[in-house]
Amino acid sequence: MSAVPAAKPCKLHKGVADVYSFFEPATESWQYLLVDPASSEAAIIDPVLDYNPASGVVSTGTAEGILSFITENGFKVRRVLETHAHADHLTASQFFKKHLPGEILICIGERISQIQKHFAPIYDFSDKDMENHFDVLLKDDEEFKLGGISCKVMHLPGHTPDHLGYVVGKAVFTGDSIFMPDLGSARADFPGGNAKDLYNSMTRLLSLPEDYQLFVGHDYPPQQREHDCVATVGFHRQNNKHGRIGITEEQFIEFRQTRDRVLGTPRLLHPSLQVNIRAGKLPSPDADGRIRMRIPVRLPSSML
Ligand SMILES: [Fe+2]
Repeated sequence: MSAVPAAKPCKLHKGVADVYSFFEPATESWQYLLVDPASSEAAIIDPVLDYNPASGVVSTGTAEGILSFITENGFKVRRVLETHAHADHLTASQFFKKHLPGEILICIGERISQIQKHFAPIYDFSDKDMENHFDVLLKDDEEFKLGGISCKVMHLPGHTPDHLGYVVGKAVFTGDSIFMPDLGSARADFPGGNAKDLYNSMTRLLSLPEDYQLFVGHDYPPQQREHDCVATVGFHRQNNKHGRIGITEEQFIEFRQTRDRVLGTPRLLHPSLQVNIRAGKLPSPDADGRIRMRIPVRLPSSML
């Protein structure tokens, strides 16, 4: 298997923090590095661990690209910030915890417990398997420091119940609580997700001041444009396909539910969730040292 090319940093945002974006093409995910320029303290948002479900090969080309960039620039990473329990890629949080110096706190919203409770039995995880994997369970509106800058947690449920945004100055890392304006919104049919909550979360985001910048967790652009990761609140208000001014809650819910009914299961759903609800830890090896992903199988009634 060929190595995954290193992600390319792109400096986007001049504000209280420096923001670098890293695109991961296999899952069309945006990963971010947030840096306090005064202290060089940094946080990584939603890093991706490469995984080939056909071969079972885990690789770290994407994470290594970000790691090199961090090392070359002398950034001091303090946290990995997860916006939610992703269902379409594995988190590389443990890779960074292992390969970066100092203590790296893996952070996620406190409602991860709801996702864990739902999925642990599906993967036959025992209580012991599920013990204390995250370093920090963030509460709604909690604030924490990265060097001299303040980061504020914003609970944005709908896509998933644990979903958080991170607000740093005028930059908001929205995960999958909103998509680029021409795409509009993310699906809201995962366990504990729903279209009404997603509408309320998008409304909350679009009630921020117009010049706030919303950074998305994925982009699936139409053919005529490049992958992009950020748009202002003002632009969303005028142009967001599902959330612009004039679209009612009822219209949004009707559209979202109709669309979600025809969306397929994410390709990496089961590998992602069984790793991500354990803060990026792969399943424990068996007695022979083999690591196995668990895929629940559903049978038609004719085979029961
Ligand atoms: Fe997601």
